[in-house]
Amino acid sequence: MFASSTASQSPIHRSLPQAYAEILNDLNQKVISAQPQDVLQFCANYFNAKLEEQRVRFLATARTAPQQNRDIPQFLPAVIPPSLAASSPNIGSAATPAASSPDHSMESESESDDDEDQEEPSPLLTMPPNYMRGRRTSVSAESMVPSHQNYVKTVIPKTDEQRRRIEASISNNFLFKNLDEDQHEDVVNAMTEKRFQCKDNVIEQGAVGDFFYVVETGTLDVFVAKHGNPAEKVFEYGPGGSFGELALMYNGPRAATVTATSDVVLWALDRVTFRRILMENTSRKRRMYEAFLETVPLLVSLEPYERHKIADALESVYFTDGQVVVKQGDQGDNFFIIESGEATVTKCNDEGVEFPMPGLGPGQYFGELALLNDMPRAATVRAKGRLKCATLGKRAF
Ligand code: CMP
Repeated sequence: MFASSTASQSPIHRSLPQAYAEILNDLNQKVISAQPQDVLQFCANYFNAKLEEQRVRFLATARTAPQQNRDIPQFLPAVIPPSLAASSPNIGSAATPAASSPDHSMESESESDDDEDQEEPSPLLTMPPNYMRGRRTSVSAESMVPSHQNYVKTVIPKTDEQRRRIEASISNNFLFKNLDEDQHEDVVNAMTEKRFQCKDNVIEQGAVGDFFYVVETGTLDVFVAKHGNPAEKVFEYGPGGSFGELALMYNGPRAATVTATSDVVLWALDRVTFRRILMENTSRKRRMYEAFLETVPLLVSLEPYERHKIADALESVYFTDGQVVVKQGDQGDNFFIIESGEATVTKCNDEGVEFPMPGLGPGQYFGELALLNDMPRAATVRAKGRLKCATLGKRAF
């Protein structure tokens, strides 16, 4: 995989920088002696450890550096990627790890922030050009795409009755919707039953993430403590709900405390299986819809986490020019938000004459009336050109 000492005699390798060849040789030795199962993650960890070492060395030198060094022009890389800064208004604030809002980490999968704030050197210090303090590191996280060859599946024996209960618990949960047969089987195999009593904390804010949970029976409240303030209730879960994904997705501390408000039966999925099977689709959808949902007037007052839950439930649907999206008089099963494109709206009077109504564009929504009032569709909506909508089913709506 990497240059061996023999290979380094070839013309190509002779031109490699000395420092690079030394690092690869060192890494080769470590791979040979550790024989890691997940080679990619092992290498990532190796490089992260090297970076940390470099950082510590630099900070030690910088703290004792003579004053004149401090007049050299600054190298202060942005810690927050611009895409994230744009989509998250709080992103610049220094949150405590325990209180860090989940949306802070939305685009920093398998990255951890907590070391960014600890060893903050004076902004007057000069960084070496190769320092890249803004790089985030993930020393302990499993690889995002673990090697399937080396992956040992978790199989926790269970009775048919337990399997039936798991199936019932996940049947209406969006995170499990797009699994193929094998993935579905792997998830069910890996789940383990956990019971808690009323008032037990299933998860504590700030703790390390171990499991993702699906509720079979019972209810739970979610509390978030921000900036040292007392914890406030922000959410609640009942049967079919799921929680505990954030710490596993972003390798951060638990973002909230989840407390049972009755005796509960939960199905817990271990971190590795969650990341291997459920994470990719979930984070892709949340990323895809996050910025868009912030612009939908109906949803602006929601908490970021509530918007994530909506993103989990949304699906994109496409319509061609003139295609009917909802038809006046039909039974309504879906609610639509226009992602891109335009739609025309018409209404028929009692004589069957069709009248145009104001059209709709991106960010606008339709189809909510039939769902709210359980009434037939009150108008016909057609695509004007190519139309892309995010749709939400009746139950989720
Ligand atoms: P995690 O941070 O792993 O553990 C606590 C869980 O509470 C979190 O994942 C979410 O699944 C859930 N949760 C529900 N509401 C919120 C919220 N407003 N902020 C953060 N987490 C929440």
